[in-house]
Amino acid sequence: MNAAIADQPFSIDTARLFDLPAIHRLERVCFSKDAYDALTLLGLMLNPGMLRLKAVARGMLIGFVAAERRLRAGDGWIITIGVLPEFWGQGIGQALLLAAEREMKVARVKLTVRRSNARAIDLYTRCGYRWVATSRGYYHDGEDGLIMEKEVW
Ligand SMILES: CC(C)(COP(=O)(O)OP(=O)(O)OC[C@H]1O[C@@H](n2cnc3c(N)ncnc32)[C@H](O)[C@@H]1OP(=O)(O)O)[C@@H](O)C(=O)NCCC(=O)NCCS
Repeated sequence: MNAAIADQPFSIDTARLFDLPAIHRLERVCFSKDAYDALTLLGLMLNPGMLRLKAVARGMLIGFVAAERRLRAGDGWIITIGVLPEFWGQGIGQALLLAAEREMKVARVKLTVRRSNARAIDLYTRCGYRWVATSRGYYHDGEDGLIMEKEVW
């Protein structure tokens, strides 16, 4: 999959095990206190039920999404999505999200987002997600998580 940011091309491809160090760096930059540790990310990379996509520009990993396809439930969950801050606002987050939806081939996609994460909530809303429930105190610092859902088909 290829697209362009301003006049910079970027591509979206399957993330591989060798991308793990770059994904770990991206997690820490994007999430600081919520970042997955290396072991959890290794689990994500090895889990056969997990879809892993990366955005690449200038040969560098600049975005990542992991999503779990739950065939029995007929849905998918976005587990993590992040873009390096210097590349924000150029459609890369949206491209990763829509690519994950397409590749999962499920009828419904869900995710959890911090109540205070206005930028991510805006992206999800623009992409057709709606708030369906609240997980009280979901995050380790006690902040609520909003569960958002999109009917893909
Ligand atoms: C949330 C996140 C993934 C969004 O990534 P992004 O690449 O900035 O997302 P997009 O560019 O697709 O959309 C964001 C904005 O860019 C704008 N945009 C989209 N395509 C654009 C384009 N081609 N040119 C200019 N602007 C564009 C959108 O209108 C949107 O604007 P707004 O939010 O100011 O209304 C990113 O901010 C991030 O990594 N945050 C930290 C991690 C995080 O919170 N992840 C979500 C956890 S639930």
